[in-house]
Amino acid sequence: EVMKMIPTSALFLLWAFLALGRCWEPPVFCGTYECPVYTLKNEYEDFVERFYNATRWITADIAGTHDDDIKNGFWKVYNFMNGENKEGVTIAMTRPVVVSMLEGGENGNQTSVWIFIPPETVLPEPNDESIKHKVLPSGTFYVRVFSGQASYKDVMENRKILKEALLDAGKQFDDMSYMAAAYDAPWIFWKRHNEVLIPAVCVEAPRQL
Ligand SMILES: *[C@@H]1O[C@H](CO)[C@@H](O)[C@H](O)[C@H]1NC(C)=O
Ligand SMILES: *[C@@H]1O[C@H](CO)[C@@H](O)[C@H](O)[C@H]1NC(C)=O
Repeated sequence: EVMKMIPTSALFLLWAFLALGRCWEPPVFCGTYECPVYTLKNEYEDFVERFYNATRWITADIAGTHDDDIKNGFWKVYNFMNGENKEGVTIAMTRPVVVSMLEGGENGNQTSVWIFIPPETVLPEPNDESIKHKVLPSGTFYVRVFSGQASYKDVMENRKILKEALLDAGKQFDDMSYMAAAYDAPWIFWKRHNEVLIPAVCVEAPRQL
């Protein structure tokens, strides 16, 4: 009876660790920071396919994609994490910082800055009501990695290359949204790791007639 129980509890422990993501080795581009857990599904010549579990973010909407808009949004979210909240609590900085774009909604393009927060984080109340907590549902994303300072022009260029590669590969994707993710602080000049991510769209299996 006891012998039987040992392997079971060992399995349970292993399962518990997997569920917590403890066995997950963060990619080198996260450095020592916490970043979202994902599973690499496929690697293609010009892009990779990742599955992300549901993730939590702190976000602020911004007016557009000008440098100043992005900086404003970043500082809002950063300051919130750095103690500008009702409880005066500090949340450790993470990776990445994301600029998310939903094109052509009811009110035109909706642009926002997001910073990742680890799953177990207890969030304080923001002082600034434009700061929001967002849960991004799990899903598949197509990702193209690029280096450099990730200006808006760089992002658009890499999004275009990614879209072309996805069309060539026959992938179904959301053509109205993308995220640009930066993993390095602005003062890092060499070997910066940036990504453009486009959500995959699941197609229904063809119905049998
Ligand atoms: C991701 O989610 C799945 C199902 O919801 C879960 O089984 C798995 O353990 C999660 N992975 C991590 C690393 O959190
Ligand atoms: C929305 O964003 C796209 C690029 O992502 C841009 O080409 C377009 O001009 C924008 N539309 C408006 C109304 O700003």
